[in-house]
Amino acid sequence: MLQIDLEKLEFWQGDACNLKPHFKNYDLIIAINLLDRLYDAELFLRDMAKRLNKDGKKIYSQETINKILNDEFELVETPFEVEFVIQEHIRKYQHTFSQFSVWKKL
Ligand SMILES: C[S@@+](CC[C@H](N)C(=O)[O-])C[C@H]1O[C@@H](n2cnc3c(N)ncnc32)[C@H](O)[C@@H]1O
Repeated sequence: MLQIDLEKLEFWQGDACNLKPHFKNYDLIIAINLLDRLYDAELFLRDMAKRLNKDGKKIYSQETINKILNDEFELVETPFEVEFVIQEHIRKYQHTFSQFSVWKKL
């Protein structure tokens, strides 16, 4: 189970494919329900590798990113599904099963 120090959490808004250089030295990067929305998911994935500390982890909901990550990361947990529902409006709900995987930087 991941332990997160809430004292270190901050909120920032930005383009995930074009983040400013000072967003770096992270122990954990989470991208939930995001990859399929990005205009360049591969750029995002490769860029995140540079922003993680050694032994840092990233958690992505994703389809097939193994070939992008295998050179620099080790899969540390069997991919698992997270189920959630989003209400789009009063009569419409989106029911999603999002696949998660956890990677450790080598
Ligand atoms: C399906 S929503 C998921 C939101 C949230 N992570 C969740 O799981 O409820 C996808 C989000 O990706 C954001 N998004 C799309 N392109 C982005 C980009 N280039 N940089 C940052 N966020 C982006 C959208 O604004 C939207 O909020």
